[in-house]
Amino acid sequence: MQTTISQIPQLVGQEVELKGWCYNFRSSGKIFFLQFRDGSGSVQVVYSKAELPEDQWKILEGMRLESSVIVRGIVKEDSRSPLGFELEGKLIQAIQIAPEGYPIGKKEHGPEFLLDNRHLWLRAQSQWAVMRVRDRVITSTYEWFHENGFVKFDTPILTPTACEGTTELFEMEYFSEQGTGNSEQGLGNREQGTGMGEGTKAYLAQSGQLYLEAGIMSLGRAFDFGPVFRAEKSKTRRHLTEFWMMDAEAAFVEHAENMVIQEALICRIVADVLKHCRYELKVLERDVTPLEKIKAPFVHLTHAEAIAKLRAGGSDIGDTDDLGADDETALTTQYDRPIFIEKYPAVVKAFYMKRDPVDPTRVLNNDLLAPEGYGEIIGGSQREDDYETLLARIQERGLDPRPFEWYLDLRRWGTVPHSGFGYGLERIVGWLCGLHHVRETIPFPRMVNRITP
Ligand code: 4AD
Ligand code: MG
Repeated sequence: MQTTISQIPQLVGQEVELKGWCYNFRSSGKIFFLQFRDGSGSVQVVYSKAELPEDQWKILEGMRLESSVIVRGIVKEDSRSPLGFELEGKLIQAIQIAPEGYPIGKKEHGPEFLLDNRHLWLRAQSQWAVMRVRDRVITSTYEWFHENGFVKFDTPILTPTACEGTTELFEMEYFSEQGTGNSEQGLGNREQGTGMGEGTKAYLAQSGQLYLEAGIMSLGRAFDFGPVFRAEKSKTRRHLTEFWMMDAEAAFVEHAENMVIQEALICRIVADVLKHCRYELKVLERDVTPLEKIKAPFVHLTHAEAIAKLRAGGSDIGDTDDLGADDETALTTQYDRPIFIEKYPAVVKAFYMKRDPVDPTRVLNNDLLAPEGYGEIIGGSQREDDYETLLARIQERGLDPRPFEWYLDLRRWGTVPHSGFGYGLERIVGWLCGLHHVRETIPFPRMVNRITP
C-alpha cells in the first residue's frame, strides 16, 4: 500500500515515498521548501541543493503550484510545523509539472471567484478540512443510528407530491405521453387509480419524511440520508437549493422522546468531531471552546416563551409568527447550548404535525437552534396519526388528497403514535466548522444564482 502523510508520525527516522501535489513552495537558492499534500494531510519537504543531484534540483527550480509529484525523504520531528513533522528531502520526481498561472494564488480571492473555481478551490487546506468534517458528521450519524436500533431506509427523490409545502417545489415533466413506458408491467399511472393518471408532473423531494413514515411501520425505527431540493428564492447564508438531509423516524416515540433522540445524536456528532477532527478545526481556526460546551441537557423554550424573549429584546414579532433567521440568531446568543423551540403555531407549520392536546392551535413540534448565531439545524415533530384528522388537515391546506392515499393508509392499517426529525447536513457542518455561509460545506453548492461548476 502507498504510504501517506497520515502515517508518518509512526515512521520517524525512516525514508518514505509519498505521492501527491505541490501546494506551495519557496526557495532560498540553496534550500527548497516544498509544501506537499497527498489527500491524507500536508507536510513540508526540505531539500538542500548541496545534497541533491543536479537534475533533481532542476526539477525543483521548475516547480509550479499544483504540480503532481512523487517525493522521497526522511521523517523528522519538527515542533514548528502544524503536523509536528517534516521530511528531509532525498528525491523529487514530477508526474506533471503544471503550467504557470494556477488560478488560485496566495492573494485573497472573492467568494464568487472561488466558487467559479470550486473544482480547484476544493484542494485548498481549508476546504480539505471542511470536507473531512462533513465526512465525520455523516459517519457519526450512521454509527449513532445503527447503535440505537435505526435502520437505513432509502426514500425516493422523484415524488408525486410535496412534503414541505408547495411553494418551494422543483417541478419536472414525468413521461407526459400517456401510456408510454411501463403500462405492460402494471406500473402505468392509469392502473393505480390514484388520480395520477393525468398527472405527468414529478417533484424533486424536499424531505424523505413521508416515505420514512411508511418505513417505520415495517422497521420500527429508520433514517434516510440524501440530497433534497428546495426551489427557495432565499439568498441567505443558510440556504441552498440542493442540500443533504438526514430524516429519522421512530414508531411509538412521542414529542418529548423525539427531542431526547435529537439531543443524543447532536452530542455524539459534536464529541466525535472534537475527537477526530482536531487538526481540521485547527486548520479552520475554529475556536473549539464553544463546541466543548455542547452537552445535554439542551435548553427548552416554547414558541410562546421565545416570542416573549424576543419582544423583551425590542422585537415587534407577533404571537403566531414563525421565527426568522435574525430572531433565531438573537435567541442563540443568549445561551451556550443548543435550544429546542417547541410548539409552534399550527398555521406556520406543515400539515402532518400533530396538534398539542393542551392547545390545539399549536403543534407538537420542535426546531433545534445551534448556538453562536447559527440557528435552525433540525426540524422535527410528532406526526398526526389519526386518519380523519389527517385527511381534514390535507383538505384544509387545499391539497389534493388522492396522491396522499398511501400516506393516509398508514393511519388506516395499524396506526401508532410516531415522531421524527430532519437535520440539514450543511447547516451542521457550517456550525461545527465556524463558517459564515453554508456554500463552503458542500462540494458543489447549488444556489438560486449558481449551478456551476
Ligand atoms: O425544517 P425542515 O423543512 O423539515 C423537514 O423537511 C421535515 N420533513 C424533516 C423531518 O421531520 N423529517 O428541514 C429540515 C432541516 C432544517 O432544519 C435545516 O437544517 C435544513 O433541513 N434546511 C436547509 N438547509 C440548507 N438549505 C435549505 N434551503 C434548507 N432548508 C432546510
Ligand atoms: Mg424548518
